[in-house]
Amino acid sequence: MSILKDKNILLGITAGIAAYKSASIVRLFIKAGANIKVVMTPASKDFITPLTLSTLSKNPVYSSFVDEEDDNNVWNNHVELGLWADLFVIAPATANTMAKMANGVCNNILLATYLSAKCPVYFAPAMDLDMYKHKSTETSFDKLLSYGNKMIPAGTGELASGLVGEGRMAKPEDIVSFIEKDILDQLPLKGKQVLITAGPTYEAIDPVRFIGNHSSGKMGFEIANAAANLGAEVILVTGPTHQKTNHSYISVKPVVSAKEMYNEVHKHYKSSQIAILSAAVADYRPKSVADKKIKKKESTFTIELEKTKDILKSLGEIKKQQFLVGFALETNNEIEYAKGKLESKNLDLIVLNSLQDKGAGFGVSTNKVTFITSSNEIIEHKLKSKAEVAEDLMQQILKQLDA
Ligand code: CTP
Repeated sequence: MSILKDKNILLGITAGIAAYKSASIVRLFIKAGANIKVVMTPASKDFITPLTLSTLSKNPVYSSFVDEEDDNNVWNNHVELGLWADLFVIAPATANTMAKMANGVCNNILLATYLSAKCPVYFAPAMDLDMYKHKSTETSFDKLLSYGNKMIPAGTGELASGLVGEGRMAKPEDIVSFIEKDILDQLPLKGKQVLITAGPTYEAIDPVRFIGNHSSGKMGFEIANAAANLGAEVILVTGPTHQKTNHSYISVKPVVSAKEMYNEVHKHYKSSQIAILSAAVADYRPKSVADKKIKKKESTFTIELEKTKDILKSLGEIKKQQFLVGFALETNNEIEYAKGKLESKNLDLIVLNSLQDKGAGFGVSTNKVTFITSSNEIIEHKLKSKAEVAEDLMQQILKQLDA
């Protein structure tokens, strides 16, 4: 999954021959799952038609302050357009447009949008080699970079003039991967490993039966997604579940029993910076597992159970650099019991689910949680989707790591 998924990207097109490649840029952004709007300088319409771009982007294309097609003369709001964008990408960026951007000139809708946009701006220069090397162009580059804009450098090759040299706009694929890499490099959990447990565990009674629970694994999978979206390499150790993920930053390690989960978690804990244990691990397992299916005989049947190892506690005992998060599901004296677990398991944060809250717990897509931190802060959240709870949790972790 691309980091550009669901991002609002505004593509600015200026009047250079490379504008014909803008159609491919739109296609690649759409393929990455982004929402695209296009804003053009009037002269760029000589190089590529707004119809092509609106068809590919599935949105109207803006090239003037007033919608000429509309008898009511509707004003195209450049401020709204600038605020809509999570990213503004100007490709191709001509020497003319860059000089104007560098000097605050705004005599067309693209330039006015640039001046009102608050989001990161990328520009991909495209021009002939002598224009590219001209002192005034270099001055534009310097000024634009000093304003915090990001340059996607031009490549070297045959130019429209027939000359060979520097100035050819970066290839559409390279423009997209430049932006993806740039975003990823800035994510707060870039280079960090996050270990997460999810789902139930199944404890075998015989070859066909087990002791399990109703955990769906949804909360853990949402946490994995939220951590991966912040750039983390996620190791997701999960018990049997129907949940799926195709996030390229999440490596799923399926396990069945508490013992398998314990072993898998310990394989990855040392190299992790954050561990979040949301699995509903069985506290007890059958003391002995029958190797053949147990036949019914007596009217009552007893299974002797023994305690499983507490994975979370074992991690707390050997904790070094790790930020350790546990979950607690309580029915009464919630805060007191959760605080007790936080201390006895040496946690940095505990997420409390109270079964007294409607919409919290197993099998539902919502959750209502309270965070309790090791410095005794209690943060109550309202009922939210599990995806939102996961995002809140990651933000809380970032806040504590930053403090
Ligand atoms: N946990 C674990 N290994 C176990 C049991 C629980 O890692 N064998 C983790 C869970 O993933 C969760 C937290 O511990 O993060 C839950 O704590 P626990 O004390 O087990 O809570 P309860 O099972 O609710 O305990 P109790 O029945 O004592 O309230």
